[in-house]
Amino acid sequence: MLQTILPERVTRLNDNELDDRIRAAREKLGRRLVILGHHYQRDEVIKFADVRGDSFKLAQWAANRKEAEYIVFCGVHFMAESADILSADYQKVVLPDMSAGCSMADMAALDQVETCWEDLSRVTTGKIIPITYMNSAASIKAFCGRHGGAVCTSSNAPAVMRWALERGDRILFLPDQHLGRNTGYALGLRLEEMPVWDPYEELGGNPEEVLNNSRVVLWKGHCSVHQRFLPLHVAQVRSRYPGIRVIAHPECRFEVVQLADESGSTEHIIKCLTQSPAGTKWAVGTEIHLVNRLMKENPERFIIPIDDCGCLCSTMFRNDPQHLLWSLENLVEGRVVNQIKVDSEVAANARIALSQMLEISARK
Ligand code: 13P
Ligand code: SF4
Repeated sequence: MLQTILPERVTRLNDNELDDRIRAAREKLGRRLVILGHHYQRDEVIKFADVRGDSFKLAQWAANRKEAEYIVFCGVHFMAESADILSADYQKVVLPDMSAGCSMADMAALDQVETCWEDLSRVTTGKIIPITYMNSAASIKAFCGRHGGAVCTSSNAPAVMRWALERGDRILFLPDQHLGRNTGYALGLRLEEMPVWDPYEELGGNPEEVLNNSRVVLWKGHCSVHQRFLPLHVAQVRSRYPGIRVIAHPECRFEVVQLADESGSTEHIIKCLTQSPAGTKWAVGTEIHLVNRLMKENPERFIIPIDDCGCLCSTMFRNDPQHLLWSLENLVEGRVVNQIKVDSEVAANARIALSQMLEISARK
């Protein structure tokens, strides 16, 4: 579904008018509405979120809180899909801007994954467990549900991968090669045991023997925001700011995470920084809106992005106050625009994989 062009009555408003009208619409909707906001949302939008979180916290919220009729999800498409799958039937999930997708999620198409699964099953022996990062389409989550696998997020990837390795001979890890490699390595696997599967190559570009000796087959996907951080940037901040601590999201390259002092989800990054002693210096490898917010909210700590450019997630950025207002005012009028509704069969299988993740995380 494409995003409708917003009417002029919304686009011509100035910042104060937008804020006032968003507040008024929220008030009218009252307890029927909840706004969820991912940490990468811009300040002008996240300030209206009732709940802020990383992908896991927001999914958990959607699974457990059944009171709001409307869940307006200020995040990206795959997050809104997961909220729809985990929420109750009467709850409607709305994405303010339909073009808020994720380029990493788009790197794994169902037909490619099915071909990979058939090829891997043919040339390897033993049981394969598919694990998909939350940042994937509902159809990929459903694939994992159908084949005895699970979803993971950056905050529970170690627990989910451990669970899978205890049950199978190898994991097919979709779609972020970096999260898969970083997590597998931290669990004690060798890099040679984690070949990359390129969906555009015969057998993913691997000899049969390599696939047979693998423990994790990493899908060739990445996040263009996090992949930009390079070992050179870490070396530069360390030489410019002696004593600085480096924290990197696990979507960053293996070499960057190896050089960092800490790695974890957006929620983990926030926790580490805010709990560190005043005066601590931090270089942060994640999306720039979160880094800027951390800088502003923690004046007693020195916080900078790992590189000078500080890359933004252009799809998270699509949710602006104009789209938020437009979706809320339509709800006030009784019209649900931009509803994210996953096909019921896909949702049923995807729910199996998402519920497996929630169960593994609850056991931790
Ligand atoms: P987390 O907030 O779960 O760490 O995920 C980061 C991300 O890339 C979301 O798209
Ligand atoms: Fe996707 Fe990367 Fe943006 Fe997250 S930061 S939504 S993985 S493109």
